Amino acid sequence: MAPTLDPQLRRALAERVRYCHEMGIYDFYWRESAVSESIEAGQPSPSAISESLFVASQPELREEMAARKSAVAPAVVEDNIFELATPKPEHGVADPVAALQLIREDLGDCTRCKLHKQGRKQIVFGVGNPRAELMFVGEGPGADEDAQGEPFVGRAGQLLNNMIKAMGLRREDVYIANIVKCRPPGNRQPERDECETCSPFLMRQIATVKPKAMVALGATAAKNLLAISAPMSELRGRWYDFKPAGSDPSWAGARLAVTYHPAFLLRDPRQKGETWKDLQMVMKYLGIVPPKKAAE
Ligand code: URA
Repeated sequence: MAPTLDPQLRRALAERVRYCHEMGIYDFYWRESAVSESIEAGQPSPSAISESLFVASQPELREEMAARKSAVAPAVVEDNIFELATPKPEHGVADPVAALQLIREDLGDCTRCKLHKQGRKQIVFGVGNPRAELMFVGEGPGADEDAQGEPFVGRAGQLLNNMIKAMGLRREDVYIANIVKCRPPGNRQPERDECETCSPFLMRQIATVKPKAMVALGATAAKNLLAISAPMSELRGRWYDFKPAGSDPSWAGARLAVTYHPAFLLRDPRQKGETWKDLQMVMKYLGIVPPKKAAE
């Protein structure tokens, strides 16, 4: 049986790995460990919610991501290390609306990775409340998002909307973004270099919105945000501390939870109950009382 890491040590390690990731350092080894922490004791019963809350209109074909096979991460361009030293246009801009606009302008008509020449119609930046307490991060735009320029507007988006509603929130209350901002062709999983190229912009969005809590939707989002390679069963059911390097020192950072991607739930609705457990953990932290219908 694989050894279980002390949760505090694991958190510290995850924080360290993520920090290195943000610094552009990937050239180290990750030895798999079986760390599985259950949902914190005292959470509301997951069975309390009807699965119908999450019903979306059509089944989705998109696959949930498999765990990265390789334990060795490839080296990346070392230039990234110096990125932190370069002041970003939004630094010192207190208004998050203006700051997000500056990040969007900096992104421009991005050609930084190969996705720009693989059929993307437009960049899908992010949407929602620039001061949101809660932020969702998905994987990357699909065909509908590519067409409309907004994340999570297709069938998976309908399900995400239902999840948000079940939490007692509106889509406009939260902020929604993706690991990559351009549609990977054929809805394939974004590749490592694409995620690495795009993630500094996501980090700047997170540092601007300064959410209290974040939810990584699916394994690709979780693994990229946390720089951890582990199956969903190990990633879910616990909190991670999340704070992009170089962000406002007066912001305590976000607590990050991992749950299933809505597209995966469309294929396997049996996991909706588990997802609801994850969302309840988030609601408890944010002090959100679920609407009466959801609690019945
Ligand atoms: N799936 C994602 O991960 N993001 C979207 O925006 C839509 C579908």
